[in-house]
Amino acid sequence: MKFIKLFEPITINHLTIKNRVVMPAMALAYADNYTFSNRYKAFYRERARGGVGLMIIGPVAIDKVGSTPFMPGLFDDRYIPPIREFIDELHRITDIKLGIQLMQMGRYASSSYTGLTPIAPSAIASKLTREIPREMTRDDIEEVKEAYAQGAKRAIEAGFDYIEILAGGGYLIGEFLSPITNHRTDEYGGPIKNRMRFGLEVIKKVRQMVGKDFAMGIRVSGHDFMEGGHTNIESALFCTEAEKTGVNSINVTGGWHETYVPQITTNVPLGAFLYLARGIKEKVSVPVFASNRLGDPFIAEKALRSGAADMICWGRPLLADPELPIKVEKGRLNEIVYCIGCNQGCFDSLLSGSSVCCTLNPRVGREADTEIKEAKIKKRVFVEGGGPAGMEFALVAKQRGHDVTLYEKEERLGGQVNLVAASPGKKEFLNVVKSLKNRMEISGVKIKSKTTLTSKMVEEERPDVLAVASGARPIEINVPGIAQPHVVSAWDVLNEMVSDIGKEVVIVGGSATGCETALFVASLGVVDPETFTFLLYHSADDFDRVRKLLYRIGRKITVIDILEKVAGNVGISTRWSLIKSLRLMGVELRPKTKLVEITANAVIVDTEKGRESIPADMVIIAVGSQSVDDLAKEVKQDRTEVITIGDAKEPRKITEAVREGFDMALRV
Ligand SMILES: Cc1cc2nc3c(=O)[nH]c(=O)nc-3n(C[C@H](O)[C@H](O)[C@H](O)COP(=O)(O)OP(=O)(O)OC[C@H]3O[C@@H](n4cnc5c(N)ncnc54)[C@H](O)[C@@H]3O)c2cc1C
Ligand SMILES: Cc1cc2nc3c(=O)[nH]c(=O)nc-3n(C[C@H](O)[C@H](O)[C@H](O)COP(=O)(O)O)c2cc1C
Ligand code: SF4
Repeated sequence: MKFIKLFEPITINHLTIKNRVVMPAMALAYADNYTFSNRYKAFYRERARGGVGLMIIGPVAIDKVGSTPFMPGLFDDRYIPPIREFIDELHRITDIKLGIQLMQMGRYASSSYTGLTPIAPSAIASKLTREIPREMTRDDIEEVKEAYAQGAKRAIEAGFDYIEILAGGGYLIGEFLSPITNHRTDEYGGPIKNRMRFGLEVIKKVRQMVGKDFAMGIRVSGHDFMEGGHTNIESALFCTEAEKTGVNSINVTGGWHETYVPQITTNVPLGAFLYLARGIKEKVSVPVFASNRLGDPFIAEKALRSGAADMICWGRPLLADPELPIKVEKGRLNEIVYCIGCNQGCFDSLLSGSSVCCTLNPRVGREADTEIKEAKIKKRVFVEGGGPAGMEFALVAKQRGHDVTLYEKEERLGGQVNLVAASPGKKEFLNVVKSLKNRMEISGVKIKSKTTLTSKMVEEERPDVLAVASGARPIEINVPGIAQPHVVSAWDVLNEMVSDIGKEVVIVGGSATGCETALFVASLGVVDPETFTFLLYHSADDFDRVRKLLYRIGRKITVIDILEKVAGNVGISTRWSLIKSLRLMGVELRPKTKLVEITANAVIVDTEKGRESIPADMVIIAVGSQSVDDLAKEVKQDRTEVITIGDAKEPRKITEAVREGFDMALRV
């Protein structure tokens, strides 16, 4: 397929944008007390050069009460000059168009950051902060409307080409729209006509401030995915009214932070929420942007061709690869670093109070300090292991001009990533392997698969540098009964080396690996998505009966863990949906349960209530992993510099493996 629609220009009001790619607003937490820092500049500069048509900077705070100090502010004139200088620079060096997202967080703001009680339509706490906001008075409403207008005025002074008002995602305007968060009895509450009033008044006020020719849009939730909240129908209704009130484009995202449906994680199928943009596009005549999980350029092109949307948002895909648009346009598809939706570096960092980084792009947030420069002294480098740590190290070392050979003992590259990708909903992790392999090949790394690197080979060849990236192996435990045929490791199960999975399965260890193995085993019994669609398409059976096939696993699965909490090492944005899936599949989760013994047909455990026997004809051990670093100990370090990276240093995650590979390769 040729990428034609993606690179057609489009005009929004009087603003012509060179292509259909939008980088939506993403909170990065790089600001120090509302200041637009050099860190932001380096981050956005790199993306501006990567070929995106419209880059929406922000969110930017319009007032203090609805903000965090880690985001840039525009609630005072003093914030304008540094932003203006930067916007001028980008306009000078690229043909990009620059937007800004104006944000008031409503009840998602927190007094712990601002020192002010958050404001909202009604005094209803969010699950995110648990803090009860103050119900807005009429004066508050007027003040916030004015703050939006002043923010817009300053945005124009700062040189922006486009303004976006965030009206979804459960933030202030979205809170007015929703009956869940708006219990007001005045003209801003009650029927939907009243609940829309605040948002429409903000739009009107901003339009008056910016003039009729300035390009201005809103971002909405295409569906709140909240019990009792707005669906696509109410969302479309608001959008039609917003168009009448003066917006020139509508950016359709998914639900709130508190939704019951995963929104952006790996398990969300690519393009899953396109139907929300389509539902709104059918009702309005202004351009509509589609968002969420559209990073595959083929899916993006198809979405535009299908008429579901006029523009495509690439948020995290541009974190993972700032040059994605250029690479797609120039046909350099093999060089793309695909976002895998893991959220580990980006959203989870933000939710746990850190600034945004990326699992697969170790330069995110460090753009100014991590340029890949040619090495002064060229070295002969050996890499032991083709997992993410070894591959990233080999790639960057080669890009710096070293002579690099990577050894992988297995036939396929990827190491444990192949196990990660075996879990239901995580197939996309294979893109980590595909992308690193492609880029290694393009850069000229010598890859020797099915070759175990030994200390003898290193002694004979005498490379200048040896990177030990040999990963990890499962920890073996010593309990009575462990050495029986029906006791296997989670790695073997995920590797499909176990052909007879029993009817009563107990998984020992409830961390990510144990829980995902439970899901893997559970999914063996259920209907596959294609068959499910086929059955529904033809109304082959009663809807509920077909639906039940999604959860009918045909075996009893129990996960036990000695800790108080299962899946404790899974990121905040992913854990809840993993637990939800396990529950939907009927998997029993038993924290605070200690394995004592394995018999021929049961596991004996100690619980708070005493000793117990759980029937088991298959026991899967998933109690963690331990480093494999034998070569680092064996090789004489007087002739070869030895660097240990990734799980070989300490078992962790892909994020650390890639970052360590990258950082150490910058040093050799
Ligand atoms: C089931 C499971 C789920 C996981 N889920 C996630 C997740 O969701 N997110 C996440 O970030 N991380 C996850 N992880 C962890 C993640 O996969 C690892 O942290 C990561 O793969 C470590 O990378 P690495 O390159 O250091 O080691 P590995 O991936 O283990 O790669 C090491 C490689 O070295 C090779 N090797 C070893 N010795 C030699 C030798 N002498 N010669 C040649 N080759 C050799 C091995 O064959 C292997 O290919 C998961 C792990 C498992 C097992
Ligand atoms: C770290 C992070 C911060 C985000 N912050 C915002 C925000 O402030 N405003 C907003 O409208 N969307 C925000 N989003 C949502 C993104 O704009 C985008 O809709 C989402 O990442 C899904 O698109 P993607 O799959 O292309 O990344 C954020 C997303 C991430 C990952
Ligand atoms: S951390 Fe994961 S989800 Fe976030 S941008 Fe990087 S690859 Fe994508």
